[in-house]
Amino acid sequence: MSNSTSAPRKILVTSALPYANGSIHLGHLLEYIQTDIWVRFQKSRGHECHYVCADDAHGTAIMLRAEQEGISSEALIERVSKEHQADFATFGVAFDNYHSTHSEENRYYSELIYTRLRDAGHIATRDIEQMYDPVKGLFLADRFIKGTCPKCKTPDQYGDNCEACGATYTPAELIDPVSAISGATPEVRSSTHYFFKLPDFADFLKQWTRGGHVQTQIGNKLQEWFESGLNEWDISRDAPYFGFEIPDAPGKYFYVWLDAPIGYLASFKNLCDRTGIDFDAYWRKDSEAEVYHFIGKDIVYFHALFWPAMLHGADFRTPTAVNCHGFVTVNGAKMSKSRGTFIKAATYAEFLNPEYLRYYFAAKLTSRVDDLDLNLEDFAARVNADLVGKVVNIASRCAGFVKKLGDGRLSAHCAEPELVARFIAAGDAIAEDFEAREFGRAVRKIMELADEANTYIADKEPWALAKQAGREQEVLEICSVGINLFRQLMVYLAPVVPAMAEQAREFLKLGSLNWESRHEVLLDHEIAKFKPLMTRVERDKIDAMIEASKEDLVEEQKLKEAAKGPLADDPIGERIAFDDFAKVDLRIARIAKAEYVEGADKLLQLTLDLGGETRNVFAGIRSAYAPEALEGRLTVMVANLAPRKMRFGVSEGMVLAAGNDDGIYLLSPDSGAEPGQRVR
Ligand code: MSP
Ligand code: ZN
Repeated sequence: MSNSTSAPRKILVTSALPYANGSIHLGHLLEYIQTDIWVRFQKSRGHECHYVCADDAHGTAIMLRAEQEGISSEALIERVSKEHQADFATFGVAFDNYHSTHSEENRYYSELIYTRLRDAGHIATRDIEQMYDPVKGLFLADRFIKGTCPKCKTPDQYGDNCEACGATYTPAELIDPVSAISGATPEVRSSTHYFFKLPDFADFLKQWTRGGHVQTQIGNKLQEWFESGLNEWDISRDAPYFGFEIPDAPGKYFYVWLDAPIGYLASFKNLCDRTGIDFDAYWRKDSEAEVYHFIGKDIVYFHALFWPAMLHGADFRTPTAVNCHGFVTVNGAKMSKSRGTFIKAATYAEFLNPEYLRYYFAAKLTSRVDDLDLNLEDFAARVNADLVGKVVNIASRCAGFVKKLGDGRLSAHCAEPELVARFIAAGDAIAEDFEAREFGRAVRKIMELADEANTYIADKEPWALAKQAGREQEVLEICSVGINLFRQLMVYLAPVVPAMAEQAREFLKLGSLNWESRHEVLLDHEIAKFKPLMTRVERDKIDAMIEASKEDLVEEQKLKEAAKGPLADDPIGERIAFDDFAKVDLRIARIAKAEYVEGADKLLQLTLDLGGETRNVFAGIRSAYAPEALEGRLTVMVANLAPRKMRFGVSEGMVLAAGNDDGIYLLSPDSGAEPGQRVR
């Protein structure tokens, strides 16, 4: 039965929300491309399908990154959102809506879900002890604590596991732990936290897991988690935190992972408000609409346990399915910055056609959770052989004869009705593969058809016939069959390579290449002049992309150094307008007093004389100067820096120094300068 007779389905699809503090890379793209292909397929089939996403904008990492760059969190997420959306557009990932978790819709649904869970008794509070950075005034997540591995004694190990020996431990067990943010020795402090009582949902989740909502591999993993017992989930963080304050708990914020999945609702709500779609029809408890989340295997716990439990507990429907994919490796290994295989979306697109990647991913994707290797050798070979060598070749062999012998019109009579009918019929099985996310299988079937089409043309040798007088009609009919077969292939490939399909549609002068449209054979139909639809992958472009990715790494390291502030050794940061520079009030200062700061191994406390006025400044120069060597010296300070509250007191400015971790050199004016003088 053809799908046209069944009623259109209502389908809502999401991809995971990328963090707003990093660039989109080829690993991410596997997910967005997988989802986009599935969505385009559903739309091609005539279903009502909406694809929403957003930036995941909250959390400590984003707050710190913004601080390092000297901009507000809002300015950072605004900029990154634009970059992300440009990258997605380049790769043909066509969201119906792209929103942000830092939005009013998300605040609304986060508060709503939280209060419903609370009122139903699913929220508990408890005091917990945690590492605290006394310099930054911040509780530290495990990954922000560094120290020496308690087992193998390798220094500089992060949080809870050792990269050298693989030992796992709590940050409290680290030898000489320091805050990775400030270098300060962390203290243990207690504070009240809010917990989502996940164990309340154990029975519900066990049942849900067996209900066909997750892949078998994931179901097995969940089974292990059930057996080891579900824990309450800490959903609060203390200020300062970039996020939403918890309604009944001033100074406490929702942990980023609480409001992140709610961002799916928020983005969809934003779309509904813009376009008049009925939100409740998708999200109310008895909804008949389908909801699918596409995610990577690293975030299963959040999507297959917390998320359905939260939705269920707050009286929303739960997802139809969570579709999980594996990780991208490049040339058989984890993406590596130093090998140049950590490739950003934008870097790839500078050198290679995004549709190559869409095709290659599709050709290798299954419905399973296995990792997917992007082997660059195989990538070039496969794209060249399949897309260029097989598919485009059909059109390029036939188009010229149609132009010449039919004056650009296909023959009115179909010479191979059975062959064409077989290509049309194949669409049903191919559709089943797309539906089941067996894209690799679909692509194999499509390429088998392409082989058949090429064999048909090769056997008929229209180029040889064309040389014989009186056989023009025959040649035109053969080539018209070829063009019809090409058209079928493009209908099937359109979800995978939409830009190429769009060019093919123009070449074929068709209104649409949607799935149903393939049933109408093109007879006595005008086509346009043929233009090459895709060119070959060039090996040297791949090499250049790898080299550029290595350079990306160098750039990143420079930025990181620059972000360390006044002690960085890279003079070039973001360009600023002269007016901005003029806002900085630089003054000559005399160091009246310099002292050690108890408990801070990098800082000196300076009392600076500005010619009458004195300022208290904490400077990270202890490793280079003994306090007594500084007293009486002149230096340069930023006098109008907003005061910063530190654990040891308020810092009222900043002194200027050159250098890096290897050496620090305080600036001094030539003799004759007077304290308080403006520096320009
Ligand atoms: N912000 C969270 C998701 C919140 S969803 C409510 C997050 N962001 S992420 O930017 O780290 O990742 C976004 C998606 O990309 C995730 O599904 C993740 O699994 C996927 N991938 C990130 N790196 C990947 C690979 N190297 N390979 C395949 N997918 C990868 O997680
Ligand atoms: Zn170790």
